[in-house]
Amino acid sequence: MEAFKKIEALLSEIENSDVTTLDKLEAFRIQYLGTKNSIKPLFAEMRNVPNEQKKDFGQALNNLKNAAEQKFNSLKESIEQNAADNEKSSLDLSLPSETNLLGSRHPVSLVMNHMINIFEKIGFVVEEEREIEDDWHNFTAMNTPDDHPARDMQDTFYLKNSVTNLLRTHTSSVQARVMTKQEPPIRIIAPGRVYRNETISARSHCQFHQIEGLYIDKNVSFADMKQTLLYFAKEMYGPKTDIRLRPSYFPFTEPSAEVDVWMGTDTDTTKRLTKGTGWLEVLGCGMVDPKVLENCKIDPEVYSGYAFGIGIERSAMQKYDISDIRLLFENDTRFLKQFSSAL
Ligand code: DAH
Repeated sequence: MEAFKKIEALLSEIENSDVTTLDKLEAFRIQYLGTKNSIKPLFAEMRNVPNEQKKDFGQALNNLKNAAEQKFNSLKESIEQNAADNEKSSLDLSLPSETNLLGSRHPVSLVMNHMINIFEKIGFVVEEEREIEDDWHNFTAMNTPDDHPARDMQDTFYLKNSVTNLLRTHTSSVQARVMTKQEPPIRIIAPGRVYRNETISARSHCQFHQIEGLYIDKNVSFADMKQTLLYFAKEMYGPKTDIRLRPSYFPFTEPSAEVDVWMGTDTDTTKRLTKGTGWLEVLGCGMVDPKVLENCKIDPEVYSGYAFGIGIERSAMQKYDISDIRLLFENDTRFLKQFSSAL
């Protein structure tokens, strides 16, 4: 009979419903249990059912209603259970909380920034330049003749298939960059990384850092340079710091000197860094050679100047008692995190 078949069809529809989300569950509720549900119209069919079948029909209808209710409840329960299980698997409240690893400044940056601040206070301006240089800015302009040993392949990293492009061997190349683009007065410092083809050991590395200084103006004297460097040493290493200037040779300065700072021999690190003398060699300096000014189209009859190049690593090693330069380039976080409280 037609009306019984409709009940059967609805019953199997309800039982086979595949509902896995709360949205679909609500749609199921509206369709089979809501005020305009699809079971309701079947009640109206009661009057077409012959009397002797009315009782069975009524029971079948009630079963259908109950089946819809039961299905709804079991679907709801399994959806809620699923959600709870998912949450449990992604949320383990017994796990220790994650610690946020804060970065720290590298000891080389700490020392370099300190030095930059010291020179900025007396009017030096930071110039940053390329690490890949050409032969002219790194050597020729700096009065380093073709046959100078510093040009040897032993010391300089040349770029593949190039005889002119190289990794700068010192920040002095920035002097040539600045002097060829800027008129005096010039008062710059140039911090940065430099490269030399050296065997890596506890004392030397193929990469390290320098700060170049250059001051060009009228009537600049050796005494001006000495005072500036003394000021730097006292700011950097303490007000009682002593320095000494040793005569030296650099192709780009005349006269030239090396500056040592008194560190004493209290620790093994200072002993090693100062080779037992207590004097730490921190920089090279001198009056800019007139040939360098000429190479850069600055008139040496009108202008003079001084220049200096400070090594960073040795000061960092002395300051933080680091015995091996390689530690500075290995990026081992166990080493680096020790500097997190340093400024
Ligand atoms: N460029 C030199 C070096 O790498 C250091 C240096 C010496 C820089 C004397 C200067 C200077 O500006 O005047 O060893």
